[in-house]
Amino acid sequence: MKKEPCLEPLHPIERTGPEELRKLQLERMRETLTHAYGQSPVYRKKFDEAGVNPSDLRSLKDIQKFPFTTKQDLRDHYPFGFFAVPMEQIVRIHASSGTTGKPTVVGYTAEDIRHWADLVARSIRAAGGTSSDKVHVSYGYGLFTGGLGAHYGAERLGAAVIPMSGGQTEKQVQLIQDFDPDIIMVTPSYMLNLADEMDRQGVNPKKLSLRAGIFGAEPWTEAMRSSLEERLDITATDIYGLSEVMGPGVAQECVETKDGPVVWEDHFYPEIIDSSTGENLPDGEAGELVFTTLTKKAMPVIRYRTRDLSRLLPGTARSMRRMDRITGRNDDMMIVRGVNVFPSQIEEHLLKVGKLSPHYYIELSKDNHLDVMTVHTEATEELNAAEKAAAAEQLRHSIKAYIGVTAQIVVHARGTVPRSQGKAKRIVDNRV
Ligand code: DLL
Repeated sequence: MKKEPCLEPLHPIERTGPEELRKLQLERMRETLTHAYGQSPVYRKKFDEAGVNPSDLRSLKDIQKFPFTTKQDLRDHYPFGFFAVPMEQIVRIHASSGTTGKPTVVGYTAEDIRHWADLVARSIRAAGGTSSDKVHVSYGYGLFTGGLGAHYGAERLGAAVIPMSGGQTEKQVQLIQDFDPDIIMVTPSYMLNLADEMDRQGVNPKKLSLRAGIFGAEPWTEAMRSSLEERLDITATDIYGLSEVMGPGVAQECVETKDGPVVWEDHFYPEIIDSSTGENLPDGEAGELVFTTLTKKAMPVIRYRTRDLSRLLPGTARSMRRMDRITGRNDDMMIVRGVNVFPSQIEEHLLKVGKLSPHYYIELSKDNHLDVMTVHTEATEELNAAEKAAAAEQLRHSIKAYIGVTAQIVVHARGTVPRSQGKAKRIVDNRV
């Protein structure tokens, strides 16, 4: 049975008018720049080289004078070079593995952890969660920020946390049946995996207690939202974050509007830039998201280039600005015979073909120096050869018509496309 939620009142900051918010941001930005310049030799050097000083910040726009921070900068100072407090004040270390090279290491003071928990609690509240809910956390616990970030936030809200972590799919389904959680926090691709396991065990996902899913940590589409909401009879909202900036809870979508995550602007200052020129773009235009932290002490980041592509949009359910659902990352963009393609575009079309499952990956290869894109997916039910061919043809046709590339489609037997245990790997590039 699903429970009727009784939401707690919002924190006043979530309703603050733009003028007051900008004033608070400017104050905090000034403190952050001063702290970074004074306490982090790396930032002192970066600012000096760029000929800027924290006192140059007179308005929020002046942040544009300051240099960007990139993942490479963090790697160059592996592991702790970006910490701006002595190790005695660090109470937690996380790391994000990335696909190549050394992980990116981040640290937190006790106060940073409190802010993080507050923001995740605020995020769960925005997703429709309450202190009387049970929250099943299937984000991985460990160096990844997903599990512990969600955990501390749910606890801060006063909810009962079930710290399941990722993996052990069969057991997850068992515990969801036995413990009756109201909310699940998990990557959308692993939620699909769990839903398949429910089917396999003969459990009707719609009949479970789950009322809301808080999905993030990887790109997902509106089509995937509808599919998960329908299949599980839940409300699905989008949670965004990255370890370099904090972890989950940098932005969260509100259940009442479901129109893109609200950036918690009292703690993070967002900008959108043109990735190739580094120029700032006005709100509403698509480009790369950049964040400056406004309260972090252990590891402030100034103008961190996320490589995530989005837009900044006006506030709706809250006064703070929203970001558009991430369409993809700069580094996920495939260039197939000159056409830019993101996995999320393929996902959208895949979900429109009723008989194909959203478990998929895209293989890139070369044929006589020409790019070949193959979409590997599987059927949702037992199909004969002719039905498989028809479903594949429908997908091939819509990818060609809407995205402009010719794709090969391989429909595998049910259950044979590798399942996500956390973040799904969507691209296998065999071109090099
Ligand atoms: O994925 C933090 C997180 C955990 C967010 C749980 C939400 C839920 P990282 O491992 O550092 O941190 O990966 C950050 O994941 O730059 C995006 O590319 C991607 N990402 C995170 N949330 C979303 C989202 C966590 N809602 C990277 N939509 C980011 C699309 C997302 N992509």
